Amino acid sequence: MWQLTEKKSTPVYQQIIEQIINYIQNGTLQPGDKLPAERKLADYYQVNRSTVVHALDELVSLGWVLRRQGSGTIVNEGNWGRSTTPRVDWRSLFTQEAHPKEPFLEKLQQLLNDPEAIDLYSGELPLSLIPDFRFPSYTWEELLLEERKQSPLGYRPLQQVICQRIETEQKIKVSSNQVLITSGAQQAMFLLLQVMLQSGDSVAIEDPSFLYSLPIFASAGIRLYGVEMDREGMRIDKLEQLILTKKIKLIILNPTFQNPTGSMMSNRRRNALIDLSRKYQLPIVEDEVFREMNFNEIPPSLKELAPHQVIHLGSLSKIFGSSIKIGWIVADQDLIQRLSEAKQMMDFSISVFPQVIAHTALTDSRFEHNQAVLVGTLKQLAQAFLKGAEAIADDWEVSEINGGIYVYLTWRHQHLTRKDWEIFLREKLLIAPAFLFSNDTMAMRVNYTRMTKQTREQFFAKLQTISKELRRS
Ligand SMILES: Cc1ncc(COP(=O)(O)O)c(C=O)c1O
Repeated sequence: MWQLTEKKSTPVYQQIIEQIINYIQNGTLQPGDKLPAERKLADYYQVNRSTVVHALDELVSLGWVLRRQGSGTIVNEGNWGRSTTPRVDWRSLFTQEAHPKEPFLEKLQQLLNDPEAIDLYSGELPLSLIPDFRFPSYTWEELLLEERKQSPLGYRPLQQVICQRIETEQKIKVSSNQVLITSGAQQAMFLLLQVMLQSGDSVAIEDPSFLYSLPIFASAGIRLYGVEMDREGMRIDKLEQLILTKKIKLIILNPTFQNPTGSMMSNRRRNALIDLSRKYQLPIVEDEVFREMNFNEIPPSLKELAPHQVIHLGSLSKIFGSSIKIGWIVADQDLIQRLSEAKQMMDFSISVFPQVIAHTALTDSRFEHNQAVLVGTLKQLAQAFLKGAEAIADDWEVSEINGGIYVYLTWRHQHLTRKDWEIFLREKLLIAPAFLFSNDTMAMRVNYTRMTKQTREQFFAKLQTISKELRRS
């Protein structure tokens, strides 16, 4: 039993880890079973004791086995959901040094108010596309009565509408005590970090990912590791290598119209990701803020594939603009409870106002119709963009657009440096270069929904000029 039969290219300690995990998964080792002593294992595997110690350390940190004083190493009887404990260190946010500003972003932000600049950087729809709805007419007294419908998890009518929408769109039955209303998806992410992770923990994300650009991870002392993507999404082989070498505690990803690449994780890859997360008992946070902006059928959400393994985040900021800062977390009840406690401790309570407005918007009789009109308009904008992009196709590889708000353009020629991207600022063409989300310097994210016919023509004309200059540099 305790020997490696096949010769593999992976390091021996990794092979030992995989073998023990397999034994636990196929029932050869049962929860509570004791593993042989380290010295014995080293003899069986014919390796140094340090190799065995290394493998067991990894298994402990992945949560598969536990070390108990006096009784050696035993197979863990719990799972990740039970082993996490609430931990709130929001104060450290204020004691840390300010997050250093990205110089490119600083310059870009100064240009955002310049009337000559074309803003394809901002991550939301232009005002003209945001579906309209009538504000509810409440008296002050009526609003105060609505306030009574607030629970620690949020305004109950809004929670219920979200449950219904999740049930129709994702075919998952969730109850109100599995939904926590937050002030946007970013706050949702912040709460999850506080409750599920500790300073020094490692998280796997896509490479590139918009999460790199958020200061909340650095402030909480969380290490982010990017996993290469291919046409189907995050590469599972690369993710597994990372899990084995970096003690990954959580996987956070944005499988539907990913920010920044706009890409969609395939159904096959979603299933492979779930299998891997089950193998290592790693929870997944699925950020799905663009899910409702789809032109065609989309694969099932990760939450639908594995309801207890996946924590789902949604937000209204993408369809209603960022002034409605309303988002939500869908997870198992015990985790929601802990997140809600953390939210109260941090005094992150949300006034009933935006929640009543969000509820009105979602239950408006024209909502479905408005939603369909919006998707139709996005489709036309995407087609117009792709048509215009034929003029620059020799210089830029352009991603498909099947929904969401982003298209990704990759430079086809020589290596570009950060400095090269300053030409875009000089031309007042505001886009997001890939280096904001990754170590890559060859691509850019463009919010195609913010272009009118006129700005689209200007964009492609300017891009042709810039490309000529880049080719010469
Ligand atoms: C993929 C993704 N998730 C989450 C967010 C944050 O959403 P919210 O505005 O609801 O905080 C953004 C915003 O840009 C995003 O692009």
